[in-house]
Amino acid sequence: MYSRITGIGSFLPGEPVSNGDLARRGIETSDEWIVSRTGIRFRHLAENGENASDLALQASRRALAKAGLEASDIDLIIVATSTPDFIFPSTACLLQSKLGNQGATAFDVQAVCSGFVYGLTIAEKFIRSGSHRRALVVGAEVFSRILDWSDRGTCVLFGDGAGAVVLEASEKPGILATALHADGAHHGILSVPGSICGGQVTGDPFLRMDGQAVFKFAVRVLAEVANECCQAAGIAPSEIDWLIPHQANVRILEATAKRMKLPIDKVIVTVDRHGNTSAASVPLALDEAVRDGRIRAGQKVMLEGVGGGFTWGAVLLEI
Ligand code: UT7
Repeated sequence: MYSRITGIGSFLPGEPVSNGDLARRGIETSDEWIVSRTGIRFRHLAENGENASDLALQASRRALAKAGLEASDIDLIIVATSTPDFIFPSTACLLQSKLGNQGATAFDVQAVCSGFVYGLTIAEKFIRSGSHRRALVVGAEVFSRILDWSDRGTCVLFGDGAGAVVLEASEKPGILATALHADGAHHGILSVPGSICGGQVTGDPFLRMDGQAVFKFAVRVLAEVANECCQAAGIAPSEIDWLIPHQANVRILEATAKRMKLPIDKVIVTVDRHGNTSAASVPLALDEAVRDGRIRAGQKVMLEGVGGGFTWGAVLLEI
């Protein structure tokens, strides 16, 4: 028994916000700096009151329509997010209610930018065990809410959005191999080190990052975990048709492709138009490349996440 993706959908809120728009809003930056260091040109930002579950709902409806399913057909809902609507209940339960699903298993996964790859791997294990048959796996983020807009080193990098897939039990191969890792010793290089206590925010409620440490870590583990996943599936990296790494920075994507000896035109890039949407970035990129016809049925696609924790992982699948 395999698990296969049978529907993909995504959603970006509002109009694209350019680097120039950010500079005009008073951030001391330039299009030249952002493009040369990151490749980012645009990002989307949610309206006040537009939450992760709202973006997740739009992406999920599109994924369900592509799969030809109703919300009531789903028996497992996993939402990967680091920007949940509430401390609790989970965004997965809020999404379940908005979709009108009752009774499915529903929970959030907190693995920051690796969250979607973590969620997809968990769903695959549930389906392969025989306990569940149809999962909705969503990455949904409103990182604009946790950015310090006076810190130009971080606020220009991120955007909001959501992506969703339907994963179903199948006799035809879909997910071929998975690998997940974490090393909490590196928790300090990318974090939002605050919490709520006694009605007050304690600590720092904004995203903080040691950009260069994150950069080096990401490039190393993205190449390692993709190779590990290929080995587990018994294929050579050159047999991958498409690589979809977490979309953080074009330079990270280029360095990963180089380490894996893959031509850059096998890498799906959306960070230029979406910015870094954390757990949403991989399903957003997958949806775009399937819709525009680059990724075709039968091809092998490697999805990869890396992010705060530190966490990282990969899923190799056949579309
Ligand atoms: O999901 C994972 C998320 N994280 C990442 O992907 C981040 C990975 N890291 C990176 O992408 C890069 O480290 C950054 C793009 C964040 C930063 O690039 P960098 O080449 O490491 O630059 P830096 O932080 O060393 O800053 C260089 C200069 C500094 O000025 P001085 O001290 O040399 O005068 C910064 O103040 O660039 C300045 N700077 C900016 N200038 C214009 C930092 N941010 C900006 C900005 N606009 N937005």
